[in-house]
Amino acid sequence: MNSLNHTRLVARPRCTSVRVTGFIGAAIVLSAISGCTKATTAPKPATSAGESIPEIGPLPNVEFNAAKAELGKHLFFDRRLSGDDVIACSTCHDPSKGWADGKALSLAYPGSDYFRSSKPYINSVHARYFYWDGRLTGKDGATMARDAITETHFLNMDGRLMFMRLQQVPEYVAMFEKAFGKEPNFGRTLKALAEFQKTIVSKNVPYDQYVKGKGSLPDDALAGLEVFQGKGRCIQCHNGPYFSDGKAHRMGVGENPEIVATPLRHITMRSVFKFMGVDNFENVKTDVGHYVVSKEEKDRGAFLTPTLRELGHTAPYMHNGMYATLDDVIEFYNSGGEMNNLPRDSMLKPLGLTSKEKKDLKAFLLALTGDPVIVEAPARYEYKLIENWEQVAN
Ligand code: HEC
Ligand code: HEC
Repeated sequence: MNSLNHTRLVARPRCTSVRVTGFIGAAIVLSAISGCTKATTAPKPATSAGESIPEIGPLPNVEFNAAKAELGKHLFFDRRLSGDDVIACSTCHDPSKGWADGKALSLAYPGSDYFRSSKPYINSVHARYFYWDGRLTGKDGATMARDAITETHFLNMDGRLMFMRLQQVPEYVAMFEKAFGKEPNFGRTLKALAEFQKTIVSKNVPYDQYVKGKGSLPDDALAGLEVFQGKGRCIQCHNGPYFSDGKAHRMGVGENPEIVATPLRHITMRSVFKFMGVDNFENVKTDVGHYVVSKEEKDRGAFLTPTLRELGHTAPYMHNGMYATLDDVIEFYNSGGEMNNLPRDSMLKPLGLTSKEKKDLKAFLLALTGDPVIVEAPARYEYKLIENWEQVAN
């Protein structure tokens, strides 16, 4: 693969106006390099609702405070943030598993089980909403951390007890002092975790390097980019630097039978729905998705468009882990989605992709995966008897 080749492939449709709906993001940057000036004036592709599609390209940099993020890293791996000192954030967001957990359906706090797949923590600072159903705003990492800590299905922890624990670890007292100039408390713990979240982002993503003009993509990935934006219509929903429109769509992914077959998962599902005010939650047998937020029938069984970054590290796929491989996901789209008893998003239609187009599309998706981002779990600092209570009193 050489750079001449990709410049030609990308620049051609733009400069000759052969195809005006392709190549946003990459084309605009590279057209400058290849001296094509028509790129900026070419009409942008639009969604079926007539809105212009945000460009796919590198994620913006996020500034962070190093001392707070370092503290947040220790907290992320510390089981003492959970009720019985049994699991940590990293149990379900494992760096060696793409910051998810590799399971179709996630664990929950011991004694329970969860009814959806763990979402990758990596790049999540760029999410517009958190969780598959979008029940929290993506703007507030501290509230996200609070939810994960206090919900009985995740860390099942009481905030007051948690910071009393941290105050009994001298190294934590020193790290809070360095980061905030104050002793450990609940709010500062949440802020430190939100700061750590900003540091876990993709590295060396081939597609980003290509858009920045710092690298080339193999021919199959370039052809896959065309399918992604053209015949596959993936870009209608997976767009912007995060490859998500931040909206909920009903895709018709089949229900995972494990959920009703495992009482603990089913109970957790119903208890979340009860808490979210879902009517008739006692009888719910299928995941209502974004309905928990909007309470509109059109959102029953709809989920927020997930990012497509790091897919190479985050199998299995979909909110309930129903697809083990990217080939399965592409097959799902090619067939126009599975049938279930609710109408699917009108954008989903059989695609009629050839086997080469499917292979190319997969190569493009994998070009959105960077080097593994591995953070080693820091050593656990032990409790010590507090001698001077004045130093830690709130
Ligand atoms: C027992 C497993 C488990 C633990 C422990 C856990 N999580 Fe999660 N996390 C999940 C699951 C499952 C989801 C998706 C839930 C859903 O959509 O209903 C999730 C979602 C998230 C998301 C949203 C990502 C996105 O793109 O929407 C963030 C951020 C997150 N967790 C951070 C944390 C932090 C920080 C901690 C520790 C304070 C933590 N999690 C502890 C399982 C866990
Ligand atoms: C109508 C909007 C829409 C279109 C069009 C669309 N997607 Fe999706 N995509 C979604 C939503 C929503 C989900 C999550 C569905 C779920 O979990 O039930 C998803 C999930 C995925 C996932 C799983 C991600 C993960 O982390 O589990 C992949 C991979 C994917 N889409 C790729 C594609 C490809 C490739 C195309 C084009 C062939 C495409 N999508 C077209 C909205 C869309």
